[in-house]
Amino acid sequence: MTDIDWANLKFSYTPTDYNVRCYFRNGKWGAIEVSSSEYINLHMAASCLHYGQNGWEGQKAFRCPDGKIRTFRLEENAARLQSTCRAMMMPEVPTELFTEMCLKAIKLNERFVPPYETGAALYIRPIVLGTGAQLGVSPTDEYLIIIFVTPVGPYFKGGFSATNYVITREFDRAAPQGTGKYKVGGNYGASLRAHVKAAKEGYSCEFYLDPRTKKYIEECGAANFIAVKGNKYITPESDSILPSITNKSLQQLALDMGMEVECRKIPVEELETFEEAGACGTAAVISPIGYIDDPENGKRYTFSKDGQPGPVFQKLYNRLRDIQYGIEPDVHHWVTVID
Ligand code: PLP
Ligand code: COI
Repeated sequence: MTDIDWANLKFSYTPTDYNVRCYFRNGKWGAIEVSSSEYINLHMAASCLHYGQNGWEGQKAFRCPDGKIRTFRLEENAARLQSTCRAMMMPEVPTELFTEMCLKAIKLNERFVPPYETGAALYIRPIVLGTGAQLGVSPTDEYLIIIFVTPVGPYFKGGFSATNYVITREFDRAAPQGTGKYKVGGNYGASLRAHVKAAKEGYSCEFYLDPRTKKYIEECGAANFIAVKGNKYITPESDSILPSITNKSLQQLALDMGMEVECRKIPVEELETFEEAGACGTAAVISPIGYIDDPENGKRYTFSKDGQPGPVFQKLYNRLRDIQYGIEPDVHHWVTVID
């Protein structure tokens, strides 16, 4: 038992009992280790500290109405982490190792999986770090993967109610042929100035355009942009966007609902034509957008006046949650049941 106030959890760190670790040394991954320490003993010249050699992931585990715990599309997170590892010249973490470590971290911390009724979930955060001492700029030869878990509530205040964004042209989270499509710490470090500025101005988050031309929509902070126009589910296509697993799943659910899915360049002005707009991701789930301000031309694109999601997002959200909670049949084989 824990004394956590589940219903009032925010998206923040709460200590749990254990994390799991695995080292890559002498050209191979070793045995999985269990640790109860929240700290890492790290060499001061480790490549992750100086040269940003790192990568990470984010998933959730859910306590379901049938009492079981379910995870969602772990293999997709493993594949994305592998693509991040390749991009950062780190050894790939095999899918079986990744999955075994995730399941172990969840099981060891079962008492921290929030009860179904609270709407909270157990967030799983795998991180890969270059730990070898490295002075010249080149990849190191020792790495560590740690998977920790922590119970979380909604990413945005208000949960499934509308949030507001401001377009940023001053800062980019990634370069046109840089690391935007990978989950590396540097992208998030680069986003902090824009994020703090947006928050100071009263927005929930910053909104990115493509870094090359600033003409097309990219990301809603640390989430993908999605929109609805008529019977179409529309989302941006770009080389510098993180391929969201939530977005990929919602696209499938939209197709299942008989919608058309368009993944293409979206000019900023097209915002005017959308009936619903939102941010999607593991942390954000679907977070409807109230409005997006464009300070360059003083324009406000409004999507939700009452703070509520539109009918299509509501339906997609319900479908996704019902699959994650084992309420609807898992026809696409997205869910792993933990016994
Ligand atoms: N975009 C960015 C930059 C992110 O950090 C995330 C979070 O992982 C997402 C989008 C959403 O991706 P996913 O749905 O796989 O969590
Ligand atoms: C997620 O949605 O899992 C993310 O990784 C976003 C994050 C920055 C909390």
